[in-house]
Parts: sequence; C-alpha cells; structure tokens
Amino acid sequence: MADVNLAVIYYSSTGTNYELAKWAEEAGKEAGANVKVVRVPELAPEEAIASNPAWKEHLEATKDVPEATSDDIEWADALLFSMPTRFGNLPAQMKQFLDEQGGLWANGKTVNKVVSGMTSAQNPHGGQEATILSLYTSMAHWGAIIVPPGYSDQSIFAGGGNPYGTSASQGQDGNIVEDVEAAVKHQAKRLVDVATWVKNGQQ
Ligand SMILES: Cc1cc2nc3c(=O)[nH]c(=O)nc-3n(C[C@H](O)[C@H](O)[C@H](O)COP(=O)(O)O)c2cc1C
Repeated sequence: MADVNLAVIYYSSTGTNYELAKWAEEAGKEAGANVKVVRVPELAPEEAIASNPAWKEHLEATKDVPEATSDDIEWADALLFSMPTRFGNLPAQMKQFLDEQGGLWANGKTVNKVVSGMTSAQNPHGGQEATILSLYTSMAHWGAIIVPPGYSDQSIFAGGGNPYGTSASQGQDGNIVEDVEAAVKHQAKRLVDVATWVKNGQQ
C-alpha cells in the first residue's frame, strides 16, 4: 500500500477557502495520507488589506500557516487547490504561485501529480465553475491527473452539485451558505484514493 503525500494549497483573503482547506486536511488524514496545508503568499499591497478588516484579521490569524513552495509540490503525490473566485477566474496570488513553478514543470516534476480544485465566490453562480476550470487548464499543461468529484457521492448534491470541484458561496455575514463540509471531505478522500491507485500502479 503506497504512502500518499497530500498538499492542500490554498489562498484565502477572508477565511472561506481556509475553512475548506482545513476540512480537506481532516479528511486526507482520515484517509491515511500525510497531509500539509500551505498558503500561497499574499501579494496585495498593505493598504488594500488594511481597507478590509476581515482580510486583515484573517491574514494575521493565519500568519503561522507555512507558505507554499515548489518543494511542497515536489513532495506531494496529490494536490488539492482551494482559492476564491476573482472576476470568474483564479486570484492573482494563486496564478502567481502556479507561474512560479516553471522550473519544476521544465524538469518534468509536475507530471502525474493527482490534482483537484475547490473554490468559493460571493454569489451562488458567481463564476465558481469557471475558476476551477481555469485551474484545470493549467493542470493539463502540467501533465497532472485531474480528478473532479463528478457526482461520485450524495454529498456533492447536498453541497450545491458542482461536479468540477466543491464550491461554496459566502453569505453577507461572511459564512458559507451551503453545507459543503461533507463534499469537501469526499473530494479530499477521493483524491487520496486515486493518488494511492496511481502510486501503487507505478511500483
Ligand atoms: C477582486 C474580487 C473579485 C471577485 N470576483 C467575484 C466574482 O467574480 N464572483 C463572485 O461571486 N464573487 C467574487 N468575489 C467575492 C469572493 O470570491 C468571495 O468573497 C470569496 O468567497 C472569498 O473567499 P475567501 O474568504 O477564501 O477569501 C470577488 C472578490 C474580490 C475581492
């Protein structure tokens, strides 16, 4: 039985995707994986962060979460990305992190990573699917093995039914509207399971 390493790589301004990442961490560990939760570096100017108390507070609260590096990608068999929707696309912070992996990519080190994506947006139809598909476009270039949840579990229907990856909307109070915890946990477990099959198949 292969020992699978799962890196949960997230960006979050106000905590939603951090919450998704923490649920994924729990499920990954339960599934028997070695799990790291790492955040991609913040790029926004201090004035922008300071203008939004929730953003400032979340950044401060998660300052001890290690920042994601290329080593985390190299270490991982499975990668679960989570990031908010920005105008129907990846946030610049996550895009910058992906773009920094050119060296790994050039050395063939992104090939066969088993990957999946999650997101959140303000609105229930605010571009979640487009954001995850945008991640998967880059993952195709990496030669990664993309593992969408599809409708592989009942929890996906209860969590809003996004087959590309778990997605949440954020209510006016800042909390997640849908009940997505079980869908996140299913997605993380499925990712670890598939990574285990891939790793066992390579031995
Ligand atoms: C610059 C910017 C662009 C955004 N674009 C969208 C969008 O296209 N659709 C949407 O519904 N929400 C949009 N949002 C809202 C965020 O996606 C939403 O608040 C997200 O859930 C925050 O996740 P976080 O708490 O992990 O930072 C945007 C927010 C910002 C700051």
